[in-house]
Amino acid sequence: MLSEQHAIHGDMFRIRLCGSDQVHIADPHLMESVLRQEGKFPVRPPFNSWKTYRRVTGTPLGIVSGEGPYWKRVRSALNEKIMRPRPVLAYTGQLNGIAHDLIHKLRRLRDTHGDEGLGKILSNEFYKWSMESVGSVVFNSRMGCLGDDMPQRVQDFITAIDEMMASSIPIIAFDEWHRRLNSKYWRRHKEAWDKIFEISKAYTDEHILSMEKRIEGGEAVEEKGELLSYLLASRKMSRPEVYANVTELMLAGVDTTSNSLCFIVHLLATHPEVQGRLQEEIQDVLQGRPPTANNIHNMTYLKCVLREATRLYPVVTMNCRVATEDMVIGGYKVPKDTIIVMNHHAACRNQEVFEDAEAFRPERWLRSEANHKAHPFASLPFGFGTRSCVGTKIAKLELYLAISNMLQQFELKPIEGMVLKPHLRTVLTPGNQVPVRFAER
Ligand code: HEM
Repeated sequence: MLSEQHAIHGDMFRIRLCGSDQVHIADPHLMESVLRQEGKFPVRPPFNSWKTYRRVTGTPLGIVSGEGPYWKRVRSALNEKIMRPRPVLAYTGQLNGIAHDLIHKLRRLRDTHGDEGLGKILSNEFYKWSMESVGSVVFNSRMGCLGDDMPQRVQDFITAIDEMMASSIPIIAFDEWHRRLNSKYWRRHKEAWDKIFEISKAYTDEHILSMEKRIEGGEAVEEKGELLSYLLASRKMSRPEVYANVTELMLAGVDTTSNSLCFIVHLLATHPEVQGRLQEEIQDVLQGRPPTANNIHNMTYLKCVLREATRLYPVVTMNCRVATEDMVIGGYKVPKDTIIVMNHHAACRNQEVFEDAEAFRPERWLRSEANHKAHPFASLPFGFGTRSCVGTKIAKLELYLAISNMLQQFELKPIEGMVLKPHLRTVLTPGNQVPVRFAER
């Protein structure tokens, strides 16, 4: 892992990888320097195969893959609905409902598969919860991911996303070459994208149909605050741009949140004293009721638990930028077009950056704690600045609601003999099992 390279070469080193010049940094001061020098249109290294697919099919790029003024326009439109606190809190009711469905499903699976059986499929179930949650925000409809009979269309969507990610690896540096030869790798990749777009377009079109019916019935749909209705009614994006952007929101928002939840339940199960303190807060504030937006606001320790879990397990372990101008980092001249890799995982586990860095201590984030002296750029699980995660508020709300609902029902306990082995795919995942037992309270 590249974190180990930092242990050997220090906080900053240069490397040539996959045909590109890269500078890797793990010192929060240097990360701050990079992020504060960002221009109007920050650039991450492109996913070339994503771009090639869009070019050859004439499909627009979206919020993740877009750049320059186009990116700025779609980003501003999305910011309106999912980066401002008030519109996001309006999703509390539906996300609570989905957290409840997850709890029922966990109970059913535990009773049929046993604790170990559930541990082996837990990350899969959290993936479905996350897809249902993001889907309910993005498409304004329940996809049915948590039902016993998951619709075939959802399974096809999940399979196509997996296939698109897997098939992008063999063509990573030579996508154009594969496309020209129409190689089997390119065909796999293209077919996966075709399926992803077909399904997300179908969900979007269903929403448009129901929206039109509601408008005919005299309903002021734009005022309801739904993301899709807003994007379509405000005409801030063309129809093909809407398809591309909702698709990329789904791609960015599912794996990240589900894997974060895996790490959180694991940390709580293995730290009963933290779980106990969190449970007390939940009990005090909620008194057995489902959490409201107001309740979440008052749950300080819950927020510390999330901050600390995402410090120890930042699912996006490294965040990248492309230098859009020549720049100076830590006294070194870094030429334009260099890829700058900020290794958050390494910074977050560095003993010189965080006192007792390997320990899970949510208290370190309490304002009252004098011992929280870490640099503000040391842990940036959602990135920073105008290009930071546009789903930050949604993701946090999803996780707060899932944890606080779950802890009202279950005590989380470790499963002896089962081990969590973090594994880096595109994002950090818990490997193939999450050794957590869901004991009834
Ligand atoms: C715990 C869950 C999540 C984590 C840790 C996470 C983390 C990140 C990070 C580190 C970035 C890159 C930021 C940067 O370049 O500075 C990012 C970008 C992004 N995330 Fe998330 N994310 C999460 C959930 C979500 C959700 C739920 C959504 C959608 C609703 C989402 C949508 C996006 C999008 C669209 C981008 C690209 C933004 C842009 O380029 O303007 N993420 N995320």
